[in-house]
Amino acid sequence: MKKLTVALLSGGISSEREVSLQSGDQVYDALDKDKYHIQRYDPKTDLGRLVIDASGIDVALIILHGPYGEDGTVQGLLDLLHIPYQGSGVLGSALAMNKAVTKQLYEISGLPVPSYMICHRNEDMDVDACVKQIGLPLVVKPVAGGSSVGMSIVKASGDLQGALDKAKSYDNAVMVESYISGTELTGGVIGNKELEALPIIEIVPDQSREFFDYEAKYTPGVTQEICPARIDDELTRQAQSYAKIAHRTLYCQGYSRTDMILKDREIYVLETNTIPGMTATSLLPQAAQVGGISFSQLMDKLIELGLEQHQASIHPTST
Ligand SMILES: Nc1ncnc2c1ncn2[C@@H]1O[C@H](COP(=O)(O)OP(=O)(O)O)[C@@H](O)[C@H]1O
Ligand SMILES: [Mg+2]
Repeated sequence: MKKLTVALLSGGISSEREVSLQSGDQVYDALDKDKYHIQRYDPKTDLGRLVIDASGIDVALIILHGPYGEDGTVQGLLDLLHIPYQGSGVLGSALAMNKAVTKQLYEISGLPVPSYMICHRNEDMDVDACVKQIGLPLVVKPVAGGSSVGMSIVKASGDLQGALDKAKSYDNAVMVESYISGTELTGGVIGNKELEALPIIEIVPDQSREFFDYEAKYTPGVTQEICPARIDDELTRQAQSYAKIAHRTLYCQGYSRTDMILKDREIYVLETNTIPGMTATSLLPQAAQVGGISFSQLMDKLIELGLEQHQASIHPTST
């Protein structure tokens, strides 16, 4: 069989550049070299080359996180170049990247979410009214962030303004959310028409940390990840069902990973990642492994689903 030419995109210009480069290296190692001829591109420097090479590329793997990678922009460029790629398209990527729109759509679908307020960069939030409505502690996060960058947990009203200013330095809008103290869960799903839910992972951050922050996410050993999560079958089914609903609600494709928090047998949905971390020890690859899918098989599957999705879509043109 002819080898597929795969464009592997990693790096980019978001605050998650380093993580993306690491994921890119590991995805490169995992890809079966008998099946794929791999060409690497770093969008920070190589977009021109990607455009020039487009007609010779069979499929792209977008291993980029955050803005200008996970948010639909690169997906749009690949659509223009008629290059199939893994995972969500422009719409799903853009919706999931925006935590405010995500929440609104979750609510429409009946998914339980922590109570929240949105504040735009050029607006002054009434700090006292916000604390009254949301309660303490609360979480402040940029609307279009990732990897916990720019996020704070606020325990005293006096600290809210500083947290808002910090989050606003990362984004045009910030979200204030009620802090849910519970067990953190994450659920991966894979598929196009038929969605398969992977085993749920329980995330246990180091006791000294208040939340699953950037360091906890990317420093080996700081966070314990337990898969399958230590929850009963009913809660497992519920979390898997929420992960599927979140995926469909946000028009995701191929795969996604939804973050949740369990408190008093109620599961709150936080957000959906359309390009979850892709090192061999990242959450979705780990869950796939527990579900019997190796990292290399996972990459095959994502490529296959991306090609299938591309074939099934209508590509309108003016001619
Ligand atoms: N409402 C909340 N209650 C408790 N912890 C939260 C809440 N929102 C976020 N966190 C913590 O912050 C982490 C990152 O938040 P998340 O919304 O998943 O954004 P991202 O992963 O895109 O930075 C979560 O994994 C969790 O540890
Ligand atoms: Mg998250």
